Amino acid sequence: MTRKLFVTTALPYANGAFHIGHIMEYIQADIWVRFQRMQGHEVHFVGADDAHGAPIMIAAEKAGVTPQAFVANIAAGRKQYLDGFHIAFDNWHSTDGPENHALSRDIYRKLKAAGFITTKTIEQFYDPVKSMFLPDRYIKGECPKCGAKDQYGDSCEACSAVYAPTDLKNPYSTLTGATPVMKSSEHFFFKLSDQQCVDFLREWALGNIDNAVDGKPRLQPEVANKAREWLENDGGLSDWDISRDAPYFGIEIPDAPGKYFYVWLDAPVGYLASLKNYFDKTGRDFDAFMTDPTTEQYHFIGKDITYFHTLFWPAMLKFSGHKIPNNVFVHGFITVSGEKMSKSRGTGISPLRYLDIGMNPEWLRYYIAAKLNAKVEDVDFNPEDFVARVNADLIGKYVNIASRAAGFIAKKFDGTLSMEWATDSDPFLLTLRTAATEIQALFNGREFGKALRAAMDQADIVNAYVDANKPWELAKDPAHSAALHEVCSRLMEAFRILSIYLKPVLPELVQQVESMLNLQPLQWADVSVPMLHGHRIKPYTHLMQRVDPKMLDALFEMPEQVADTQKTHPLPGPLPEGEGENRSSANFKIEALAPEIKIDDFAKIDLRIAMIVNCEHVEGSDKLLRLTLDAGEGRMRNVFSGIKSAYQPEELIGKMTVLVANLAPRKMKFGVSEGMVLAASAADEKANPGIFILNPWPGATPGMRVG
Ligand code: MSP
Ligand code: ZN
Repeated sequence: MTRKLFVTTALPYANGAFHIGHIMEYIQADIWVRFQRMQGHEVHFVGADDAHGAPIMIAAEKAGVTPQAFVANIAAGRKQYLDGFHIAFDNWHSTDGPENHALSRDIYRKLKAAGFITTKTIEQFYDPVKSMFLPDRYIKGECPKCGAKDQYGDSCEACSAVYAPTDLKNPYSTLTGATPVMKSSEHFFFKLSDQQCVDFLREWALGNIDNAVDGKPRLQPEVANKAREWLENDGGLSDWDISRDAPYFGIEIPDAPGKYFYVWLDAPVGYLASLKNYFDKTGRDFDAFMTDPTTEQYHFIGKDITYFHTLFWPAMLKFSGHKIPNNVFVHGFITVSGEKMSKSRGTGISPLRYLDIGMNPEWLRYYIAAKLNAKVEDVDFNPEDFVARVNADLIGKYVNIASRAAGFIAKKFDGTLSMEWATDSDPFLLTLRTAATEIQALFNGREFGKALRAAMDQADIVNAYVDANKPWELAKDPAHSAALHEVCSRLMEAFRILSIYLKPVLPELVQQVESMLNLQPLQWADVSVPMLHGHRIKPYTHLMQRVDPKMLDALFEMPEQVADTQKTHPLPGPLPEGEGENRSSANFKIEALAPEIKIDDFAKIDLRIAMIVNCEHVEGSDKLLRLTLDAGEGRMRNVFSGIKSAYQPEELIGKMTVLVANLAPRKMKFGVSEGMVLAASAADEKANPGIFILNPWPGATPGMRVG
């Protein structure tokens, strides 16, 4: 039966670049999604930026831009990570999109009509200078117990005392330094304490009736235990404060001017909004899909946000008349060499640096998959373990099978396979195929580590077959030609089957395999469809490099100065991950300065902000890219730029840059170039290669003059 699946990952806050924890979550979900697609199921896999909330509003203000521009800038950086690690979201949207405004308000109205919304006046700290209620994290003061200075409002780092922000002595606002005052305000609450709600959540989280998976309880045992604690603690559930007062970056509450939804109200609605945005764009019917009782809805999330996804979210959906999630799949955190990652201490792995130094994204996918299970356990990235698993297992056991057999097929048998042996009762095939059922169940149950182990057990059997039949020996004697042909053909068929098992984890590699084997994209059911007798494969091309352990050193090298500057003088804007990490100016021999000019000379050059609306390769040129630029003139400009060595066209589309707008048009071999874009490069390009296109601070718009 074809299942219809709606799958999401958590929506990352749009206040910073992706870190390795995000990438791990996306890899987990992506593997599951690719696996389900290989079963022939219909899967819609979406993500979005979580744009709202006070921290983003404040960060944007510090950067001197609107929150919209701030989050747009973050959003523009997402693609390189997702493409880089082969994360195949169908859509990436934003919780500030119009769909989310509409859906959140609609859900609220329905909850209100059903009697689940109430109001209460509460007292809170207020910053009189900023005229703003202060979230707890923006209040500090002296510990009421030990007197330590600069402690946060919930607990003391010096003596570990736990208290409320109102207990702090000499409290101050970290935004302005002002002494906060108590001020009251009316807040809106979702009545989580309502008996209907409690009953529903008990059933959803702890009961095994509706939608239980294969007769087992819905939630992972650790998650169910947490839910039980929350649902059954003495006070029961308390009502949930869902409103915040202006100024706030969020969605205004209907009929309540100056009141906004708390970010966690509209954030999960963003799952639906991204799906709706995607369905609208592709001509599908969102309402029909979401009201179809056979549609299954799953959310991949980290353990820290379990509360929101097992209590608030199902309850919101239920009492506003929506489909409730079939499940939330909770994962643990990624640690690096046993340490919790911390950006400020420079631990953790920079995903962009990983890609920049040429590490293969599929190594990380394989490694993470090998360590994942269906429990809420942390996953440790250990460099030695990484090298060992990739080199010994992935390459040593799997990739090598092809390299040991394909060469003979090409050289001695004109690329064709001998497959007459491949009957359904062939014991060699039977063993390999039988594993499919177990591996399938393991992938479906998110036991990726076990799935890979089961696949590698099969690879071990195949390698034992190689050692027993020694194709390199057979190749020495023409009398053994038929035997060599069969042995190598068996190996290629075995390799094909193993490739199916690994495809959810290694999509790019298996695509290369498909091309080498001259096959259509492999589906799971193809396990039992052997290649045909006489099928011609293409010559073996190198499939995957081993990890060079030196790469791991490069991955963890964190230039000290940069780390320090970031700590002590936080930059006003978001610092794109990896940027500023690589090059200290000391490495450059800088080019001699040009002769001095007067300001009038400079004024002759008209520099404008331009948006790269399109970018493509130029046929016949190995240096140039063709850019289509919008400099706000009501027409597009065509500009050729010698930056092909440094950028893929896709990464530039949608970015802002600086255009020399009054440069005389220049006729080139490929057309007329109407201006020039600014880019940096080192004088000694050999020692310091690279071309770096200029990109303005967020907020600049096409047509603005630069000067
Ligand atoms: N914006 C909220 C989620 C809203 S969902 C409607 C949020 N954002 S986040 O950027 O802080 O985290 C996004 C996801 O990354 C969460 O699932 C979180 O658990 C996960 N991770 C954050 N740090 C992580 C690790 N160190 N390891 C693995 N996942 C981690 O929470
Ligand atoms: Zn203290």
